[in-house]
Amino acid sequence: MAESMSGFNRSHRCTEVVNAQMGELVTLMGWVNKRRNLGSLIFVDLRDRTGLIQLLFDEESIGTEGYEKAGTLRNEFVIAVRGLVQKRGGAVNENLVTGHIEIKVLELRILSESLTPPFPIEDGIQTRDELRLKYRYLDLRRPELQSKLMLRSRVAQSIRRFMTEEGFLEIETPMLCKSTPEGARDYLVPSRVHPGSFYALPQSPQIYKQLLMCAGYDRYFQIARCFRDEDLRADRQPEFTQVDMEFSFADQHVVMDVNERLIAHIFKEILDVDVELPIQRMTWQEAMDRYGSDKPDTRFGMELKDITGCVEDCGFSVFSNAAASGGSVRGLLAKGQADMPRKKIDALGEFVKTYGAKGLAYLGIHEDGTYKSSFAKFLTEEEIAAIIREMEAEPGDLMFFCADTDKVVYASLGALRLQLGEMMGLIDHSKFNFLWVTEFPLLEYSEEQERWVAMHHPFTMPLESDVKYLDTEPWKAHAAAYDIVLNGVELGGGSERIYDPEIQEKMFAALGFTSEEAYERFGFLLDAFKYGVPPHAGLAYGFDRLLMLMTGAESIRDVIAFPKVKDASCLMTEAPGEVDEKQLEELSLSLNIQEEAAE
Ligand code: AMO
Ligand code: AMP
Repeated sequence: MAESMSGFNRSHRCTEVVNAQMGELVTLMGWVNKRRNLGSLIFVDLRDRTGLIQLLFDEESIGTEGYEKAGTLRNEFVIAVRGLVQKRGGAVNENLVTGHIEIKVLELRILSESLTPPFPIEDGIQTRDELRLKYRYLDLRRPELQSKLMLRSRVAQSIRRFMTEEGFLEIETPMLCKSTPEGARDYLVPSRVHPGSFYALPQSPQIYKQLLMCAGYDRYFQIARCFRDEDLRADRQPEFTQVDMEFSFADQHVVMDVNERLIAHIFKEILDVDVELPIQRMTWQEAMDRYGSDKPDTRFGMELKDITGCVEDCGFSVFSNAAASGGSVRGLLAKGQADMPRKKIDALGEFVKTYGAKGLAYLGIHEDGTYKSSFAKFLTEEEIAAIIREMEAEPGDLMFFCADTDKVVYASLGALRLQLGEMMGLIDHSKFNFLWVTEFPLLEYSEEQERWVAMHHPFTMPLESDVKYLDTEPWKAHAAAYDIVLNGVELGGGSERIYDPEIQEKMFAALGFTSEEAYERFGFLLDAFKYGVPPHAGLAYGFDRLLMLMTGAESIRDVIAFPKVKDASCLMTEAPGEVDEKQLEELSLSLNIQEEAAE
């Protein structure tokens, strides 16, 4: 039977005992991490979220009954002890904060027993993810996950302190919403009171924060849960957390300035890392041209080079055709890789195909000056020399080329660059490289919807100089939008918002909405703008992504207490689950599951 805690008041967490005096009487509670019997002594490592401390039981101090009880302790039992702090009798354990002390236990209570856990509660275990997620509450006892979640809490506090000092108000916005125009699929919640009507869970607080600006709250922030029904990856979850903010009477420069200081503040306070300010800025076009990505990893070079000019008239039709049809031919230089085996080169060719490339041409220069290449035979010596010059290649180097539309070339070489960077060990994993990417295109073409869509969202302000394009060539316009990138991960993004109804009308027109359609979706916002709207701008971070990078976690799941898996289910609670017929009835819903989906 479980013993009571009554009369026991925890005095310290396990590792906090280092602050106690020798000989001090302390009361500790926690989990049995390990028990060892050594002759007439029993040692127990007691664990809580701060770490371990060694407990020492000897019959003389605790009495026969207590000693026997200590002998029944098994891993994960929850116990309370009262005892005296003393220097370790045995060897000092340098790996533990408490390695030089121990507790001589005078009194023991077993608060609860434990079954044998399905996997050991320790770091570095080789247990299947499925099992760990099913028993998430046990996995969460591991020091590694505990330190990540404790850091998460500290970062949240650090953000709150900074934002509050900068004059931001923390305001909550609804979870039951009308859908926001962020572009992913919504999670819907059926309304019982309004049969056939649905709320959407927020993809972000975007509309509400803009309304808060209309309402005069000036500077808002929130650590907000967001929901997006999209395909999951290592850095995506269906519900995730944003550090969301909006500023009135501020342009993108103010937003960037405050956020640079916020980042520097967090990194200094939590990791003692100095972030050099100002953070580097680069336009979207420059990022694409140099790195083939709108979220470049700037921890290493290996930039893309445009060789279209060298090959537009060459005899290799793959190159000349791409140039003739308005595309480009670009390359990457893999320093010292001329000896890369053919098999590896072919594998990289297959790799870029997943990004839409039709192939990957290569040119290597052996130390003796001869080439190995998939296309050199179609080119003149002068053309080859021009390429080598453009690529700044030397004997021993290998070059890769992709010829296609710019979009495919950027995507393929951008991904290949990361792959090569990792393969060749060029990435310094101890670095935190921040970068602002600015001047995003306002619109991007959606093949799926066969129309132009907003790259950020429909309330994003075009650059002042580009407003002129809205009527006739809106695809030429750039946005006052910016992303913050860390080590090649999009950490956050934001924009100045449109507050001029005339520009907003033009934007809707460019997106192919009629005024009526726009009104139907966002009427309340457009109405609000008629009653005095301040110029405003904002930004949101992916909080989980930030933590993932700060802790060096491989998956976003490691910084979320109860994450979902790839198919958006929770292995522990088995959500989502079926509901009673009666619940469906109340909601006026009936199921119509297609064979295929049901399988
Ligand atoms: P955006 O859609 O760029 O902007 O989202 C902001 C940041 O949120 C993070 N993020 C995610 N993190 C984990 N899982 C996901 N599924 C996921 N989706 C997005 C990313 C991203 O940079 N309202 C605008 C911001 C603004 O304009 O102020 C917005 O939501 O790190
Ligand atoms: P092929 O003529 O299809 O045998 O291709 C000859 C070489 O060009 C092979 O190495 C292909 O991988 C490469 N290649 C084919 N299409 C492209 C392309 N669009 N861009 C770059 N290289 C390509």
